[in-house]
Formats: sequence, C-alpha cells, structure tokens
Amino acid sequence: MKDILQKLEESRALAHQGGGEKRNAAQHSKGKLTARERVELLLDEGSFEEFDMFKTHRCTDFGMEKQKPAGDGVITGWGTVNGRMVYVFSQDFTVLGGSVSATHAEKICKIMDMAVQNGAPVIGINDSGGARIQEGVDSLAGYGEVFKRNIMASGVVPQISLVMGPCAGGAVYSPAMTDFIFMVKDSSYMFVTGPDVVKTVTNEQVTAEELGGASTHTKKSSVADGAFENDVEAIAEVRRLIDFLPLSNREKPPVRPFFDSVDRKDMSLDTLVPENPNTPYDMKELILKLADEGDFYEIQEEFAKNVITGFIRLEGQTVGVVANQPLVLAGCLDIDSSRKAARFVRFCDAFEIPLLTLVDVPGFLPGTGQEYRGVIKHGAKLLFAYGEATVPKVTVITRKAYGGAYVVMSSKHLQGDLNYAWPTSEIAVMGAKGATEIIHRADAGDAEKIAQHAADYEARFANPFVAAERGFIDEVIMPHSTRKRVSRAFASLRTKKITTPWKKHDNIPL
Ligand code: HXC
Repeated sequence: MKDILQKLEESRALAHQGGGEKRNAAQHSKGKLTARERVELLLDEGSFEEFDMFKTHRCTDFGMEKQKPAGDGVITGWGTVNGRMVYVFSQDFTVLGGSVSATHAEKICKIMDMAVQNGAPVIGINDSGGARIQEGVDSLAGYGEVFKRNIMASGVVPQISLVMGPCAGGAVYSPAMTDFIFMVKDSSYMFVTGPDVVKTVTNEQVTAEELGGASTHTKKSSVADGAFENDVEAIAEVRRLIDFLPLSNREKPPVRPFFDSVDRKDMSLDTLVPENPNTPYDMKELILKLADEGDFYEIQEEFAKNVITGFIRLEGQTVGVVANQPLVLAGCLDIDSSRKAARFVRFCDAFEIPLLTLVDVPGFLPGTGQEYRGVIKHGAKLLFAYGEATVPKVTVITRKAYGGAYVVMSSKHLQGDLNYAWPTSEIAVMGAKGATEIIHRADAGDAEKIAQHAADYEARFANPFVAAERGFIDEVIMPHSTRKRVSRAFASLRTKKITTPWKKHDNIPL
C-alpha cells in the first residue's frame, strides 16, 4: 500500500511540474505566473479540488504519442473564493503551449457542465496557442463544445475570463461570450487574426500589443472590461468582483456585513451640482459617497467614460450602478456609452442585481459620426435593456434629464420602480436655449426677447416639479439624504415580483 501511495504522490508531483522547470522559468521570465500558481492565488488556500489531473490526449499523429503530458495543458476543478464555490480552468502555456486538444476541451466542458448543474460561476484563465495544430478538426470540435456551453451557461452562472497570455483566432470567441473579460497589460493579447496576417491582407504594420493588448481592448474596442498591471493584481481584482456576484441566477447576490450607517448624511452632496448648469462635476463622487464604505467596483472604466458602470453595496447588498458622467462629453449618451451601459444592465437583470441609475444627461450626441454608425440602433439597446429589466430599479436625477435620453435612463415610463430627483433637476425636452430658438423662431433677431423667453422656459421646466406633479418623479429629495432614501427604496423592493408576457426570447436590436 505504501508503494501505491508513493506512486500516486510521484505522479501528482510530475503533473504539478507542468511543462517542467525550463518552461516554467520561461513563463516567469515573461512576468507571468504558471497555470497552477494562478489557480492557487485565485482560490482560498487549500480549497482547490482538482479533476482530471492525469487526463491526456489521444492523438497519434505527428509523433504526439511520444509526448503525453498529464493534464494535457489545462488545470481544472473547483474551489472557493472567500468561502463561496467557483469552478475554474487554467490553461498551462508550459504544456504544448496550452493548446486546445479534444481532451483539453473535454476537461473544460466537464467543469462548465458541473458549474451549471451546481450553480456556481466559471472562471477561465486563458493562456494558449489556440487549436492544437496536430489534432486538426478534433481540436476545432472541442472549441465548438466549449462555445456551446458558454452560450448555455450565459445568464445561468456568471462567467469570467482572465486573459493572461495569447488568445488568438477563433479561440477568442469563448472569452468573448463570457460576462467579463480581464486582461494583463503587456503579457496578454486577443485578436481574430494576428499581426502577420494583418500585414499581408491590409498592409498595416502593427504589434501584437497594439492590435490586441489590454490597452487596446479596454480603451478602443471595449472587448475587455478591465486591464491590470500583472497576474497578481488581476487575480486579486477578480476575487473582489466575485464577492459582489450571486453564484447563479437561482440565488440572490451575497449580503455582506457592513459598517456604514444607512442614515449617514453627506452634506457635501448639497453643493455637488454647480450653480452654472453647464459646469461639469464628477458623478463618481456621488457614487462613492452613496456606497457602503465607499467601495465601488468599476466595469469598463477606460471605455466610453461618459457613462459609468459598476457595483456598489447598499446595506451590504450588491447594487449595479449606471451613471452619466458630466465630466466627459457633458454626460451625453452615444453609441459606445449606450452599448456599454446596456450590456451592464442586462448582466444585472440576468443575475437579480438591483439597478441604481444616476442621471445627468443632456441628450444623445449629435453628428454624422453617430448617425452613420447607427446610434439609433445602439441607443435602442439601452432603452430596451432598461425596459425589459425586471430587477428593482431606482433612479436619481441630479441635474439634466432631457429628451429621449430622459426616457432611456430608467425613467418611470420604463417601469422604473422609484424615481427620485434632486431639487437641481431639469426634466424637459431640451435645454432652454435650444427650446427657445425653436418655439420662438420669429423673435430670433431680438436678443432681449429671446433672453426673456429662455428665462420663462427655464422657470417653467428647469426643475423637477412638473414631472413630480405628474407622478413621473416619486419624490424630490435632499441630495444629502440620498444614501438613506435610495437604500430604503431598495429595501422596499426586495420582494418585488413582476410578470411579463411569455415569449421565446426578445429581439433586442443588436
Ligand atoms: C500545438 C503549439 C501551439 C498549437 C504553441 N505550441 N501553439 N502546439 N498547437 N496551436 C507549442 C509550440 O510548438 C512550442 O512547443 C510551445 O507550444 C511554446 O510555443 P512557442 O512558439 O515556443 O512560444 P512563443 O514563442 O511564446 O509563441 C507563442 C505563440 C506561438 C505566438 C502562441 O506558439 C504560435 O504562434 N502558436 C501557433 C498559434 C496558432 O496559429 N494557433 C492556431 C490558431 S487558430 P515546444 O515543444 O517547442 O516548446 C485557432 C482556431 C481556434 O486557435 C478555432 C476555434 C473555433
């Protein structure tokens, strides 16, 4: 028996070595952790239960029968993050370049199936040379099986991708279908076709980092939701994110202990909105002042900064925040911000995360650039996402809520549950200047008259009371009491139930 146990220990030790000392050192020299180090860092100490450590490929072409590494280039299993179960796979670049064989894909599929069955998130760590070239179509079939599971798991369990090395070709489409993608600066990249093909086809000269690095995907393409300095930071941030999320759509988000009175007033909020309606201010200040312990987990911080998305907690409960940012493009909605916010709203709705919307929006960004690229369809995404969301929805208008953008931003008309406004709100079809120029065109040459009309319009509409008279605003609230009002609003909505007509699925404008 002792010998048998000894043999098992030896086999395990061999599997733990991955691609061996030299390749592990090469991995470290690129500033990357090994696949196993990443799993250990991601999960609570000692919680990892590994599956299929000895599974190996069945390929006999191109001399592959001579190299059959245990585990076949991916480490899979489950463990806990702050005591809560997650499934994980971590591709091992030191073993055959982390390339995906049929067997490698089977290992990933196994834990994805278990995650859906048992209701726990899947965290995938991608570091792979792509389809195992020696396996041909078997490898592609393996990818297909993974893709199918990404689709089936979408909206059932949270899926998070950590791209920590190469991820190219069709392989990108697995992370692309997960809820969040995080990348590491300078050591990860994602692209459908690499720099060499790009050069051949379009004659563009571009590095892998420029084409598909973390900066490109968080600032330009919005493929990724966050970029981190190194593996350690990325993994720590994913652990932090997991704390905000429910394990599946069958349960509510976790409730954490909180040490921040819900009655906390913040008098500085009474002067957050500047006197001049055209002077910007930082909406993040409001988010941080509302949140339990000022803790805000921002999603897509570097992209479409005119809208802010992320998670906070109120009374220990996760809340998704969508907020216009007056500091950027005056908080206008445009194509990018609509897409960003719409995807976030849909994630929250799928996983029963209540939505807080903070509004200061002068409208949609004008211009051919927007119209030609389809702002109508992209803006409709956000409208649609809010309208179909059945989670508790609380809205606070801090200043401008003009035109179509007013309706889009979780208004009463889209089944907003509780809609509050600060006394500084202006809820109207448009700003006073624009409105006056249209309805008093005849007086266009008379500056005095135009100024008087604008003043009249402002007196009538540059306030929240017309909307409040109609019940479109439930209450005009003191800025300093916003945390309390919003927290109590969500508390009153915890038992919210809403039914919608049966349909196979909707047809959101894509
Ligand atoms: C088999 C692979 C491999 C692959 C890398 N390796 N990619 N083996 N299939 N796809 C092996 C290498 O042979 C090498 O083995 C080891 O992994 C490390 O690779 P290196 O090239 O030495 O590493 P590096 O210089 O860091 O370059 C990394 C790389 C490069 C840029 C990823 O390996 C590369 O270009 N690989 C091929 C990428 C590719 O074309 N994949 C197919 C994409 S299409 P040894 O034994 O020498 O250490 C695709 C389609 C998916 O993925 C479709 C889904 C539907």
